Amino acid sequence: MKAEILAALREAEGYVSGQELCETFGVSRTAIWKAINQLKKDGYDIEAVQNKGYRILSSPDIMSENELVSIRKTQWVGNSIYYYDVTDSTNMCANRLAQEGAPHGTLIVADKQESGRGRRGRGWNSPANTGIFMTLLLRPEIETNNASMLTLVAAMAVAKGIEQCCDIKPQIKWPNDIVLNGKKVCGILTEMSAQIDYVNHIVIGIGINVHNTEFPEEISQTATSLYLETGVHVKRAQLIEAIWEAFEDYYERFMAYQDLSAIMEEYNRYLVNLDRAVRVLDPKEPFEGIARGITERGELLVEIDGVLKKVSSGEVSVRGIYGYV
Ligand code: BTN
Repeated sequence: MKAEILAALREAEGYVSGQELCETFGVSRTAIWKAINQLKKDGYDIEAVQNKGYRILSSPDIMSENELVSIRKTQWVGNSIYYYDVTDSTNMCANRLAQEGAPHGTLIVADKQESGRGRRGRGWNSPANTGIFMTLLLRPEIETNNASMLTLVAAMAVAKGIEQCCDIKPQIKWPNDIVLNGKKVCGILTEMSAQIDYVNHIVIGIGINVHNTEFPEEISQTATSLYLETGVHVKRAQLIEAIWEAFEDYYERFMAYQDLSAIMEEYNRYLVNLDRAVRVLDPKEPFEGIARGITERGELLVEIDGVLKKVSSGEVSVRGIYGYV
């Protein structure tokens, strides 16, 4: 009921009377009073005025299930939400829940991860009160070799969410790092459980540096946070909501063709590498060229001596000639 009370208080222009809340939720005044007190304990600033009722003045920067449910506008992402103050890794959590039969759209969010996982076997810096660590569980009806494109779909959703909430224009470093002023602010780790021709489930894990003011030595030159780039502390729950709203839209357009043809132009507008020199770190033979955008299958087109070569993200990574982007 706490999430519904929060939603009712947010929707109201002014005060909502205790009586109105009692009638809406079919509970006693004492039950409402108790719920309001719990919300105050959770950090919500709620004003109570006699003969007028309750009014919400401000919300804390928390990502609890109640907070996320109370602001949720998505159709299916977050139909089931799990929030943890601390977990090992939201991707690991999502995989466990998937084994137990959790449905398509299940969202796992944590304030801190003790074993945050990054791409290529690396870890992911996941301290408390600073970031967003979340994973979406999908059970899409797609061919296994189309699944990796979902990571580009997620990158676009993060970029759009940040753009909407933080008044800043993020860019995507192909295939799926989100960068601000040339530094990484978000990483995405997509994992799939599949049989040869059948996708059991996919988890899309997103880590965003939100309030960080410092980073471990090894990433201090390449990492940044939304706060460091904007000087503003965005409310993490609002950003989460904006990202998944954008995701639902891009996902629908992706699923219509099971490729990126309907959204690749928009992706290319976010692409930090576009028309820039890149070094392709192909394990067989690294090479340099000019990035010319992505294909409808999410490969990067790299021009070398006037010829376009398709580069797949599974095989190689890309660096700017002069540094990270
Ligand atoms: C990268 O290396 O760029 C990908 C980082 C992905 C980190 C996120 S944080 C939420 C989710 N849980 C994890 O353990 N990893 C992903």
